[in-house]
Amino acid sequence: MRIIGTGRAHPAKVVTNAMLEGFLDTSDEWIRTRTGIQERRLISSERLEDLATEAARKAIEDAGLTPADIDYIICSNVVNEYITPGLSCIVQGAIGARCASVDVNAACSGFIYALDMADDRIRSGKARNILVLAAEEPTRMVDWEDRSLCVLFGDGAGAVVVTGGDGLICSRLTTTSKLDCLHYVRRLEPTPYITKEEYSAPMYMNGKEVFKTAVLSSSRDIKVLLDKSGLKPSEIKYYVLHQANFRIIEAIANWLKLDLSHFPTNVERCGNTSSASIPLLLDELAREGKLQKGDKILMSAFGAGFTTGACIIEWTK
Ligand code: UT7
Repeated sequence: MRIIGTGRAHPAKVVTNAMLEGFLDTSDEWIRTRTGIQERRLISSERLEDLATEAARKAIEDAGLTPADIDYIICSNVVNEYITPGLSCIVQGAIGARCASVDVNAACSGFIYALDMADDRIRSGKARNILVLAAEEPTRMVDWEDRSLCVLFGDGAGAVVVTGGDGLICSRLTTTSKLDCLHYVRRLEPTPYITKEEYSAPMYMNGKEVFKTAVLSSSRDIKVLLDKSGLKPSEIKYYVLHQANFRIIEAIANWLKLDLSHFPTNVERCGNTSSASIPLLLDELAREGKLQKGDKILMSAFGAGFTTGACIIEWTK
């Protein structure tokens, strides 16, 4: 597969660190130094499906296609207001496409899993043009009285359109089941037969543990992909990494002994937008004219699960 179009949509509401100081025992200084985040964009009056639809329309237009040309839709999503149908299905109707659609949930790594699935489907000849979306509202999973979590996240939707080609150089997906580190549990409807204990609770995260695992797993994935492709670290124009914390990105840059100019970021403006962070950043780079034909881009993400996904692509647009 190769990427032929990108798009993104952000919520309108910008929430700065200073605004959070108004109702939380936190400070701009703590948030900036621990995470690099200065502000984030949060869902207020919008619905996530509207952001996903806007990102999808922009990516299809950028690809020079119409919704009728899309053969399949894959949407990475962790939560939205609907448990069912999937967000991909809602977007299919909203853009007026007629193809099959499916959601994937691999937490913050979901966009890479979705891209990899799209590549398989194109290779097998089952689809020609696939819309790959990531739409997330992680700010709805956290307790807004818990300063250690709510300051970290932002909402948004990013999309790409892929078609047949040689744009995917290599990829790597891993899963290590480890529920105690990071999870969010919602109670389902009761039935007369439920006898087990159930609960609902906002997201739980052991930040320090996730931080360590993130740096180690992302560095390992990057090394495996560089070895597999035969590329030197400096031959990658951009490392488009999951935007969870600037310090994680900095640690990976130091480990690779590369200048931070290879590591574009949006975490300072968007916060951690879960699986949407990579396609949001990719669209920014593309629309700012920073990607040239032939550029090698390494994308790497980690998330609850624990899941990781990474790939090297060549920009062919
Ligand atoms: O995409 C999902 C994956 N998630 C991640 O990648 C997150 C990975 N982890 C992290 O990014 C970092 O661990 C955090 C940013 C979450 C936390 O940074 P840290 O350097 O590990 O801080 P900490 O948890 O050790 O907290 C240090 C102190 C604590 O106070 P005491 O116990 O030392 O007195 C916290 O209570 O900072 C306090 N604290 C805060 N203070 C002001 C925690 N949150 C805040 C806050 N404002 N918002």
